[in-house]
Amino acid sequence: MTTTYSRITGLGFYVPDNVVTNDDLTQYMETSDAWIQERTGIKQRRFFTYGKDTNASMATAAARMALDRAGLEPKAVDLIVYATLSPDYYFPGSAFLMQRELGLEGCAVIDVRQQCSGFVYALSIADQFIKTGMYKTALVIGSEIQSTLMDKTTEGRNVAVIFGDGAGAAVVQATTDPEHRILSTHLHADGRYAEELYLKDPGSSREDHFINAGTADSADSSVVMNGNTVFKHAVVRFMEVINEGLSANGYQASDVDLLVPHQANIRISEYVRQQMGLPEEKVFNNIQYYGNTTAASIPIALTEAYEQGRVKSGDLICLAAFGSGFTWGSALIKW
Ligand code: COA
Repeated sequence: MTTTYSRITGLGFYVPDNVVTNDDLTQYMETSDAWIQERTGIKQRRFFTYGKDTNASMATAAARMALDRAGLEPKAVDLIVYATLSPDYYFPGSAFLMQRELGLEGCAVIDVRQQCSGFVYALSIADQFIKTGMYKTALVIGSEIQSTLMDKTTEGRNVAVIFGDGAGAAVVQATTDPEHRILSTHLHADGRYAEELYLKDPGSSREDHFINAGTADSADSSVVMNGNTVFKHAVVRFMEVINEGLSANGYQASDVDLLVPHQANIRISEYVRQQMGLPEEKVFNNIQYYGNTTAASIPIALTEAYEQGRVKSGDLICLAAFGSGFTWGSALIKW
C-alpha cells in the first residue's frame, strides 16, 4: 500500500502598502529608532489601510498567489485552515470570509487561534487531514491586522513597536513522494501563561455585556505583554521544539539548510541560531521590514526565502514558532 504524505506546492504573501517606520511611531509615543532596532531588529512594519484591506482580503490575495504558483484553480481546494488572532468578526472566523471571496462555498474551513504558533498549528492540521486521505488540497493561511489592537501611545509602546499587519499562504497537497514532503510537526502549549501575552476584550466571561462594561476605553482592549517573561520562555521553547523535530527524524542541527523562525524578535532568532551553531545564511529573518506579524510571519518569511532562491528542492527546512498561550511548535520539511 502506498503511503500518503503532504507537501507544500505553492507559497504567497500580501502586505499592506502603508509602510510605518520607527521614526513614524515617534509621532504617537516616546520611543526611538535606535531603541526599537537594538531591542527587536525592526526598522519598519506595515499597517493596513481602513477601507482597502481586511484580514480576509489580505489572506485572499496571499492565497491567490500561492494557488497560482501551485498551478491550481481555487476550486481544487477542499480544506482551508486559517490562523489569526485578529479576525474580522468575533464570529464566524475569517476563514469563512476568505472562502467566500475565493468562491469556495462547500469546502471545509477551520479557524485556528494559536497566535504566533498559528501557522505551524494550521500546517500540522492540514498535514494530518491529508495524510489520513480525508482531503487532498489544503490552503493554509496566517493573516493578521494587529495595528488596531494596540495602544499606540507611550503607555503601550512595548507592544506597539513590535507588531505589524500582513498575510501569508501555503498550498499543501497530497503526495506519495517520500523525498519531498512534510516530515513531521510538533505542537505544544502551556495555558499557565495565558495572561503573559493576551488581549482581554472582547471577552465573554464578565458580569455585563462587554461594551456596557466600558471596555472601549479600558486598557483591557489593547494587547498586554510581559516582554521579559515572553523572551525567557521563547528562547527555551524554540530550542526544545526544534530539537524535538530534528531527533524525531534522525537529523542534527547541522543538517538544516534553512531555519525559518517565527519573526518574534531578532534577538530571539539570533540566540536560537547561535545555540544551533548555524551560520547566518541558514536562518531567515525579515522582521526588519514587517515587524512581528504573528500567524502571518512564517508564511511571509518562507515565501520571501523561496523567492530569493533560499529554499531549493531537497533542502531540509525547519519552521519553528513560539507565542501567546503560551504555544510553540515546529515543522520539518524535506522540500
Ligand atoms: N521605546 C522606548 N523605550 C521603551 C519602549 C519603547 N518602545 N518600550 C519599553 N521601553 C522602556 C521601558 O519603559 C523601560 O524603561 P525604564 O527602564 O525607564 O522603566 C525600558 O525601556 C526597559 O523596558 P523593558 O520592558 O525591561 O525592556 P526590554 O529590554 O525587556 O525590551 C522587549 C522589551 C519587549 C523588546 C523585550 O522584552 C522583548 O523583546 N520581549 C520579547 C517580546 C516578543 O518577542 N514578543 C513576541 C513573542 S511572539
